[in-house]
Amino acid sequence: MLQIKSSTMSRPAFSRRTVTVQAASWTKATTTDAIKAAGGKLVVEVAGQKVLFAEVDGAVYAVSNKCSHLGLPLVGKTALFQGKVTNGCVVCPAHNTAFDLKTGEVKGEWCPKFPNLPLVGKIGDSKPLPTFQSRVTGSDVEVFA
Ligand code: FES
Repeated sequence: MLQIKSSTMSRPAFSRRTVTVQAASWTKATTTDAIKAAGGKLVVEVAGQKVLFAEVDGAVYAVSNKCSHLGLPLVGKTALFQGKVTNGCVVCPAHNTAFDLKTGEVKGEWCPKFPNLPLVGKIGDSKPLPTFQSRVTGSDVEVFA
């Protein structure tokens, strides 16, 4: 007589759900020469994220190129949509929020160019810009992502 144990009827060994875990590591993203050639700011895709590299007084900083206000690019593809790097900050071209390149913190007023709408205000509270650890090795610029 054939008996089927209940354990053979359990879930398959591999679940349909797959969780991908990627360990962060130092990755070469660009070079100091490329950043200089691009005018001191350069956007590079690293591990699926658009990272803005900005050179200030010989140091290279890496921040998200996606503004924490509405997610618009800080440095876009057109000449009309270019965030400025000034006083250690990158300034969003859409609503002029200035983000500290070292910490990502908002410097000054949140969205000074955005209308203060009745009921909803400036759409969202002040949020810092994500930052990435970066380092320069020779002329290579690496990011921890
Ligand atoms: S989208 Fe950048 S400050 Fe509004």
